[in-house]
Amino acid sequence: MSKIRLIALSLLAVFAVAVAMAGEKPKIGFLVKQPEEPWFQVEWKFADKAGEDLGFEAIKIGTPDGEKVLSAIDNIAANGAKGFVICTPDVRLGPGIMARARSHDLKVVTVDDRFIRADGSYMEEVPYVGMSATNIGRQMGEALMDEMKRRDWPIDEVRFMVITYEELDTTRERTDGAIAKAIEMGLPEDQVIKAPIIGMMEIPTSINAANVVLTRYPDVKYWLIGGSNDNSVLGAVRALEGKNHPVENAIAVGINGTDCIPELEKPNPTSFYGSILGLAGVEGYKTAEMAYKWAYLGEEPPLDTRTVGRLITRENFRQVLKEEGMD
Ligand code: GLA
Repeated sequence: MSKIRLIALSLLAVFAVAVAMAGEKPKIGFLVKQPEEPWFQVEWKFADKAGEDLGFEAIKIGTPDGEKVLSAIDNIAANGAKGFVICTPDVRLGPGIMARARSHDLKVVTVDDRFIRADGSYMEEVPYVGMSATNIGRQMGEALMDEMKRRDWPIDEVRFMVITYEELDTTRERTDGAIAKAIEMGLPEDQVIKAPIIGMMEIPTSINAANVVLTRYPDVKYWLIGGSNDNSVLGAVRALEGKNHPVENAIAVGINGTDCIPELEKPNPTSFYGSILGLAGVEGYKTAEMAYKWAYLGEEPPLDTRTVGRLITRENFRQVLKEEGMD
C-alpha cells in the first residue's frame, strides 16, 4: 500500500472516530452502594428521567465495596463519562474516591451518604444532596408518639426500640432526632433502648439487632419501633413476629418510604404503621442533573442540598406517592 494511501486511510479512521464521538451522548455515572434497595432503584429511575429530559446517559453501577467503586470509576471514564453521582458503600472512602476521580478529571456529586476525611470531618468541598436527617428523624419520633397516644397505651409499659447505625452520620442524626422528639413528647429517657446493627443495614442484620434486645427484655408489653431506614425497622417487625408479639401491641415507623410498600400493601396490617417518605426521586434527578451540568456545561452545583420527608401510612400511601410522582 502506498504511503499516501496509508495516510489517507488513517486520516479517515481518525475522522470516523471523531464523528462517532461528536455524535455520542454526554455520559455520567451513577454509583450506589445497595442496588437491591428500592430507595436506590428509585434514584436510578429518576436519573434516567433527567437523562431523557436533558439529553445525557446515566451509566448505573452497583458498588457495594471500595474495590468495586474504584473499578467503576475507571470504567465510566473509559466509556467517556465526565462525571458521576455516588452513594458510597463507606463514607471513609471519600478521599480515595476523590483522588481516583481527579486522575480521570471527573466531576463528583455525592448523594445520601456524605464523604468524611480520616479525622471524621465532612468533605464539605464535595457537593452533597441528602436528607434533612435530624428533621426526618424527629418526624419519625413524632409519628410514633402520636399513634401511641391515640392508642392510649400506659406510658410506663412502653419501650422504644431504636435500630441504630451510628457509624454513618446521616443515619445517626435520624435516630438521635427520633429519640429527642419522643423524649420531648413525654417518653422517659430510660425507656429508650438502642439496638445497633452490625454489618450492612439490611433486614437480616436488623432482625439480629432486634432479637438481642427482645431476648434481654422479654416482658415488655408495648413496643415503639424506629430506626435508620425502612429495612432496619422491617427487620425489627419480623423479629417481633418471631417472638409472637401481638401485632397491635407494637407501632413501627420507618424512613425512606420506598422499601416498605409491599409491607403497607399486605392485606392484614402488621406492626409496621408507616414511614417517613424521603425524596429519592428528586435526589436521583437532581444529582444526575447537577453532575451533567457541571461536567458538560460548567455549572457548579451548590455544596449542600437537603430534602424533606412526609409521613405515609396504610391509609394515605397511594395518594402521597402519586402526589410526589413516585407511584
Ligand atoms: C442511607 C440509607 C438508605 C437511605 C438513604 C437516604 O444511604 O442507607 O437506605 O435511607 O440514606 O438518604
